[in-house]
Amino acid sequence: MAGMESITARLAPIVAHRGASAAAPENTLAAIRLAKTEGASWVEVDVKLSRDRVCILMHDDHLKRTTNGRGEVAQYDLDELQQLDAGSWFSRRFAGERIPTLEQTLGLCLELDLELNLEIKPCPGRQHETALAVVEDLRRHWPAGRPWPLISSFAVASLEEVRLHAPEMPRGLLIGRPTRRGRDMLDRLECVTLHCDARRVSRDLVRRLAATGRPVLCYTVNDPHRARRLLEMGVTSIITDRPGDLRSALVARQRPGQ
Ligand code: G3P
Ligand code: MG
Repeated sequence: MAGMESITARLAPIVAHRGASAAAPENTLAAIRLAKTEGASWVEVDVKLSRDRVCILMHDDHLKRTTNGRGEVAQYDLDELQQLDAGSWFSRRFAGERIPTLEQTLGLCLELDLELNLEIKPCPGRQHETALAVVEDLRRHWPAGRPWPLISSFAVASLEEVRLHAPEMPRGLLIGRPTRRGRDMLDRLECVTLHCDARRVSRDLVRRLAATGRPVLCYTVNDPHRARRLLEMGVTSIITDRPGDLRSALVARQRPGQ
């Protein structure tokens, strides 16, 4: 499948989940910078739309958990969202951290030479327009000739939209447990990767999935022992809130005599 070889070669064992989100507020530029400092080469972030259709980083449909705002993300324009504090909820050290746009995120990842997994996380009813806006941002702000970020989603309609409008952009299907139906969906959407819940995979299942040649990514694993076991089973990448800890543990394991 087009793009599969390239993504297989590019993927790393560790992907920082929402940035280094155990040590910095998730889905912020600070968390992405910290992921780089902790030695990650890949970062996963969640993308949704402001009311005025600008791509921003945010996991929840509501503002309450990760900002000092209230209400639904989709009810606010970008200029209102960018006045919010997206760092204080996590720690006073991050007070004043803003909700980043996807454009700012792409710029930072290019500057830091980080690979990117963009998870399209549409607010209800916005699956199509969110996917189209992500494609448009990438076309506008991603340098020609540089491999595209990996676009993943639980939202089949979003992945379908990317497949239709940007077939050249590599896609990954997010799924809890990979059932037969899910695996058929991978083919239909021409996805190059499968991203599944680490709690719901077995050794046998990973073996069967890996045998199809598609890289398997597992979320969200913060325990180094569990991460190592999954990698040994054939999982390609571990999506973790603690890229630094996992990296230290995996590197220590590789040193002779340890
Ligand atoms: O992309 C992997 C993981 O982020 C999916 O779940 O809820 O953390 O976005 P969630
Ligand atoms: Mg995510």
